[in-house]
Amino acid sequence: MWTKRWMRRLGFWLTAATLSAAGAQAQIKEADRTGGPYVPTPQVVVDQMLRFGNIGEKDYVMDLGSGDGVIVLTAAHRLKASGMGIEIDPELVQRSNASAKKLGITDRATFQAQDVFKADLSRATVVTLYLLPGMMMNLRNKIYNELRPGARVVSHDYHFGDWEADDRFTFDVPEKEPINGVPSATLYLWTIPAKVSGRWQIKVDGVEAARDIELTQVFHKINGTLLNAAGSGLSDVRVKGEDITFSIWNGGARHHYRGKVKDNTMGGMVNLNGKDARWQAVKAAAQK
Ligand SMILES: C[S@@+](CC[C@H](N)C(=O)[O-])C[C@H]1O[C@@H](n2cnc3c(N)ncnc32)[C@H](O)[C@@H]1O
Repeated sequence: MWTKRWMRRLGFWLTAATLSAAGAQAQIKEADRTGGPYVPTPQVVVDQMLRFGNIGEKDYVMDLGSGDGVIVLTAAHRLKASGMGIEIDPELVQRSNASAKKLGITDRATFQAQDVFKADLSRATVVTLYLLPGMMMNLRNKIYNELRPGARVVSHDYHFGDWEADDRFTFDVPEKEPINGVPSATLYLWTIPAKVSGRWQIKVDGVEAARDIELTQVFHKINGTLLNAAGSGLSDVRVKGEDITFSIWNGGARHHYRGKVKDNTMGGMVNLNGKDARWQAVKAAAQK
């Protein structure tokens, strides 16, 4: 259901697209600006995005549709992070690289003229976004598949639909009202989960019988089935970054597993009858 607030936002984006199309810098075809027109995130919102994403000097930040570069420039200049902006408009890329030069941070902040769909995201520890809702939906599979588990995604105002954010918050930004009619910003945060779909064999130290489980994952939602134990169940499977937790029911007893996922293996600790034991699991090769 479109709320009035969304209609106001979209109305603003369409006006901005028209103005931008009519503007002087017509080196790119406006149709290529598939993520929406150039509308900079206000500095106060950029500061909150960087704080919300917990960005620090070890991070490599990629802003997809980087406009004048404000997000990557702020992360590199104030927080000593590194990063890259990907932007379809070469004039904005030139402007961003000139700003990096002026700030003396060209070793940490670079900008590239490219369509976001062609960008290699594998190096990013954080991706930032301020793109139209349709583009968010089109980009989400690429982001989910290319970023490594534990990488964060911070978005200004728009989200990934049924891939629910791990966290979000809305705050007053009066300076946005004259721009898009809404005096607030909402930020969304996702942590990329490890990919766990498939069949896994679990072994617990000191317990002879192995257990097979089957996990099915759609973004953050994971369903699990215990395959070889009658009368027992698997529940509460959660993955955040590389961290996994789940429960296996054995009769009336609930055994809580916690551990880390590394590609096709996972392992950690489980409490069995009051004692902590180590567990490991290996993923079965996918059936052809
Ligand atoms: C709303 S602005 C956001 C700018 C910047 N990220 C910020 O938050 O200040 C969206 C930007 O994405 C760029 N853009 C749109 N479609 C794109 C695409 N397919 N590939 C790369 N950049 C794109 C636009 O030119 C515009 O500068």
